[in-house]
Amino acid sequence: MLSPRASQIRRMFTAVAPRYDFLNHLLSFNMDRLWRRRAVRLLRQTISARDALCLDVCCGTGDLSLELSRQGTASIVSCDFSHAMMVLNRKKIIRQHVEHRIRIVEADALCLPFASRSFDAVTIGFGLRNLESAREGLEEIWRVLKPDGKLVVLEFSKPVTPIFKTLFRFYFSCLLPRVGNAISRHDHAYTYLPDSVSEFPDQLQLLGIMRECGFGRVGFVNLSGGVAAIHYGEKLDDGETTNRMADRFVQS
Ligand SMILES: C[S@@+](CC[C@H](N)C(=O)[O-])C[C@H]1O[C@@H](n2cnc3c(N)ncnc32)[C@H](O)[C@@H]1O
Repeated sequence: MLSPRASQIRRMFTAVAPRYDFLNHLLSFNMDRLWRRRAVRLLRQTISARDALCLDVCCGTGDLSLELSRQGTASIVSCDFSHAMMVLNRKKIIRQHVEHRIRIVEADALCLPFASRSFDAVTIGFGLRNLESAREGLEEIWRVLKPDGKLVVLEFSKPVTPIFKTLFRFYFSCLLPRVGNAISRHDHAYTYLPDSVSEFPDQLQLLGIMRECGFGRVGFVNLSGGVAAIHYGEKLDDGETTNRMADRFVQS
């Protein structure tokens, strides 16, 4: 059962689905394509295995799943809870003739219908911020990853240089909502975007949450001056994780 907030988020994404890709590329000046490419490149070693199985959570219209496929991932599960997004995703999969590689599953990211330790890698692009609890989302991802499995989170973040920060704030909080709401014909979806980004943890805070959720070898890369960031980490093998959990228990 979805919470009232999750149902509202699903309704919003369902409403903007038909114009989602167009607005993504327009409002990011096409940078979103480069960001996804870089995010997947970080998984190069894992996805190059012949039998690599990846999960793309909050996949939306599937651009990150398609990028995983383009960079050679053998099998991908593309997962989202908005049916409208998944219909568009399916059309793109068929258009690009990759039905044999990408399977789509409609599901809530906080309650994934997969056995524990199933995936070699998990990606989540511009999705974590939308979950009721980013921490619970990361814990659920941790559960479905195999030991040593890799996580890549692509998400809007906080710009790091002062002048750019001011210019970007004007664009992101004043211009983008007007253009986005008008073109999507939704009264608040693109007002929700900057609001949700400002409430989301910054680069270092997210890194800390990932560690607390049991991810090791974590790090992040700023994109376009910190407008977005890629966070990455690994599910430590169970022995290491147990030790880390014990450390945390002792420290607290
Ligand atoms: C901003 S879009 C990102 C889509 C895609 N990953 C991309 O890179 O463009 C966020 C997606 O997350 C999905 N989403 C939000 N909360 C979710 C949840 N609890 N479970 C599954 N999907 C969710 C929405 O339906 C939407 O398609």
